[in-house]
Amino acid sequence: MFISFEGLDGSGKTTQANLLVETLRERHHEIDFIREPGGTEISERIREILLDKKHLGMNEITELLLFSAARAQLVFQMIQPALNERRFVVCDRYVDSTTAYQGYGRGLHLDAVRAINAAATFGVMPDVTFLIDISVEEIIERRKKSGTPMDRMESSGNTFYERVRSGYLAMAHEEPQRFVVVDGAQSIEVIKKIIWEEVLNRSQR
Ligand code: ADP
Ligand code: TYD
Repeated sequence: MFISFEGLDGSGKTTQANLLVETLRERHHEIDFIREPGGTEISERIREILLDKKHLGMNEITELLLFSAARAQLVFQMIQPALNERRFVVCDRYVDSTTAYQGYGRGLHLDAVRAINAAATFGVMPDVTFLIDISVEEIIERRKKSGTPMDRMESSGNTFYERVRSGYLAMAHEEPQRFVVVDGAQSIEVIKKIIWEEVLNRSQR
């Protein structure tokens, strides 16, 4: 089973992905836990280029192709082999991040983004995608509290994040079978329970 987590930076994806992996491991499932961009040596090196604040002059097409390049290596080297062995794969971000951030956020042509996505994933798509939905105001509050410095992507501004959020919601609306939208303003425990019940439900189908 292939499970991905999506949402704005600071929405709580990593927290929930970690909790789900923990729960699955307690039940003795074999799991590959992957974060995007990254997950392989080549992909981690591409991640450094993408998130480096020195690279403020990066062109949007360069950005799109680098995220996609990192993903192609990840699918080829890790995700596809794991799925072939019927392992669980949990991804903290996957191809929907590209549609949301480079497509809706940066305003690149959605058909072009989708064509590149299809090539970079070799058509491998998650069985279920949890979209942790949260307002831009809420993530600003959380960032203030945690005091974490912003990377290059996070320096893109609030209107950019508003476009990314509405892009995600539009995508969830288009693919209601795959996407599960979870209100990210709820407590960590409540969200964890919603996600676990959904995974149980789907794995028994
Ligand atoms: P992301 O992976 O989406 O960037 P994280 O899981 O790293 O988000 O969470 C960002 C911050 O918000 C962390 O400090 C985390 O402890 C906090 N957080 C996560 N989920 C919740 C929640 N449901 N309510 C309040 N704070 C949360
Ligand atoms: P990361 O620190 O992994 O995300 P988060 O803050 O959500 O835990 O940073 C990844 C950044 O890259 C994040 O701002 C989203 C962005 N991104 C894209 O723009 N396109 C993509 O295809 C991916 C995978 C990420």
